[in-house]
Amino acid sequence: MDWLVYFHVLSIVVWIGGVAFVTAIVFPTLGSMEDSMAKVNFFMGFERRFQFLAKICVVIAGASGVLLFWQRGAFAALTSDEAFLLGYKFVIWLTFVVLLFGAEQRFMKILISEKTAPEKALRRLSIFHWVVLILSLIAIVFGIRLVRG
Ligand code: HEM
Repeated sequence: MDWLVYFHVLSIVVWIGGVAFVTAIVFPTLGSMEDSMAKVNFFMGFERRFQFLAKICVVIAGASGVLLFWQRGAFAALTSDEAFLLGYKFVIWLTFVVLLFGAEQRFMKILISEKTAPEKALRRLSIFHWVVLILSLIAIVFGIRLVRG
């Protein structure tokens, strides 16, 4: 069932590729915009669209990942190294699921209060996205190591 690997990797390419685009292109662009209202509208506009796409990809990546896990013999076939690699990927996946399907609003309130200046809010969001992106790229490396040792 190799098609599972295609679904797994292609959904991750679109999902993490999107996080990379938002982090490295969209946030710096927002930073260079003068008009605060235009910034907020632009942010809300792309964030809503990307969230929808990210939700679809995260569900496909998770479902294909779990099926691949069973296909390769589940826990019985796991070495301690593989358990670490897979465990890390699962924690990253779960973090995105929790954020995308519920906790984002609450998390945003922790990151940004009403009193936070727009520039400071943008900087915090940008730093948060860089951290998430780097942790996700490590998950991709771990995925390749899981298969190729
Ligand atoms: C529910 C969470 C996940 C599970 C259960 C899971 C499971 C798996 C399994 C079992 C494989 C090995 C497939 C094989 O033996 O051919 C695999 C490969 C891979 N996974 Fe995941 N994964 C998950 C999340 C992720 C995440 C979050 C990423 C990256 C952001 C990721 C990236 C990869 C990559 C790059 C491969 C290698 C594909 C290849 O080279 O053939 N996975 N995953």
